[in-house]
Parts: sequence; C-alpha cells; structure tokens
Amino acid sequence: MEPPEMINAGELVLKRWEPEWAEEGAAAVRESLPELKPFLPWATDGYDVDAATTYIKMSAESWAKGVEFNYAIFTTVGDLIGSIGLMTRAGAGALEIGYWIRTPWAGRGFMTAAVRVLTRVALTLPGIERVVIQHDAANPGSAAVAAKAGFVEIDRVASDPAVHAGTGTTVIREFRP
Ligand SMILES: CC(C)(COP(=O)(O)OP(=O)(O)OC[C@H]1O[C@@H](n2cnc3c(N)ncnc32)[C@H](O)[C@@H]1OP(=O)(O)O)[C@@H](O)C(=O)NCCC(=O)NCCS
Repeated sequence: MEPPEMINAGELVLKRWEPEWAEEGAAAVRESLPELKPFLPWATDGYDVDAATTYIKMSAESWAKGVEFNYAIFTTVGDLIGSIGLMTRAGAGALEIGYWIRTPWAGRGFMTAAVRVLTRVALTLPGIERVVIQHDAANPGSAAVAAKAGFVEIDRVASDPAVHAGTGTTVIREFRP
C-alpha cells in the first residue's frame, strides 16, 4: 500500500517531503507558531531547521515502512504553504489525515481542498474503507475543514497529550465513500 509521491490538487500540489525543504519547512512552522502551538505538541518556540530535518528523515523512514505518508503542500507558484499526511495509526481499513497550514495562506480554502483530494487518494488504496480526522474539541478551524470535506463526528474521547495538544477532548470524525 503506497500512495503517489506527488498529487495534483487544483491550485495546490502535494509532494512527498524532501530533505532540501527543511529550511523552508522550518520557516513555515516558525511563522505559524501562534496558530500551531495550541493544537500540535511538536510545534514549540524552539522549532528550527534541525527539527524540520528530523521530521523529514522520520517521514522518509515512515514512508518506507508504510506507516505514514507525509506531503509538503505547495502552491502552483512554488510557495511551501503547509503539510498534510496519511497515517495508519487509526487501525485496519482506515487511514487518518493530519494537517497544518502556513498562517499567511490560511482562510483561503486550501486545506479543505487538500483534505478532499487526499481523502479520495486514500480510498483508492487497497483495503482502505474509511478515512479519519481527529481534532481537539476546541479547534474550530480543523473542525470546519473536516466538516466541509464531508467528515462526520463518530466519537469524542479523552486525548492522549503525547499525540494531541489541546483541551483534553478529541473529536473523531470519519469519511466513508
Ligand atoms: C485548521 C487549519 C488547517 C485550517 O486551514 P485553512 O486552509 O485555513 O482552512 P480553510 O481555508 O480550508 O477553511 C475551511 C473552513 O474553516 C473555517 N476556518 C478556518 N480556520 C478557522 C478558525 N480558526 N476558526 C473558525 N473557522 C475557521 C473557514 O472559515 C472555512 O469555512 P468557510 O469556507 O465556511 O468560511 C489551520 O487553521 C491550521 O493549520 N491550524 C493549526 C494546526 C491545526 O490545528 N491542525 C489540525 C490539527 S487536528
């Protein structure tokens, strides 16, 4: 099971993370820290090129193992505007999508478009019957993206702080074709 390394999503292109994007990736995270920190435990004030390099290395290893497929998101003119990935941690028959956007590009419908396309791609993979998004109960942006992309709430659970920052309650949503 392996998704494509590059996915065209209209105004956006999703490309499997490459080591040479570490500097720009770190700049994107640093520029977006006020928005990312409340919900993404790895987004901290110390985030730097080394952290981005480590993330990209982990992504390459996870891709090779078939457990996580992470993409940088680019505009058609080459701006690196965020990240989105598929994770197998939701269990058999499911893939989970995680995402963040670079703040100057927020609020333009980009993440909704990226989620819609990656959901379609996920459902073409062998054995995948549903796609999951988990977000904090107090994350209206992520809730809106998921809802607009057709994900319905199926559960609310106490969150694992190692996986999700936030209020302690995680909303689980799913998309089924
Ligand atoms: C959540 C996030 C990815 C949204 O990205 P985005 O590209 O701005 O989302 P979109 O432009 O596609 O917005 C989709 C809808 O969400 C709404 N929305 C976006 N951010 C919002 C916010 N902070 N509060 C309320 N609604 C919000 C938009 O208004 C839009 O709805 P509309 O079309 O009816 O106006 C972005 O805010 C982000 O990176 N947040 C921090 C990281 C994070 O929380 N990641 C997800 C972890 S589960």
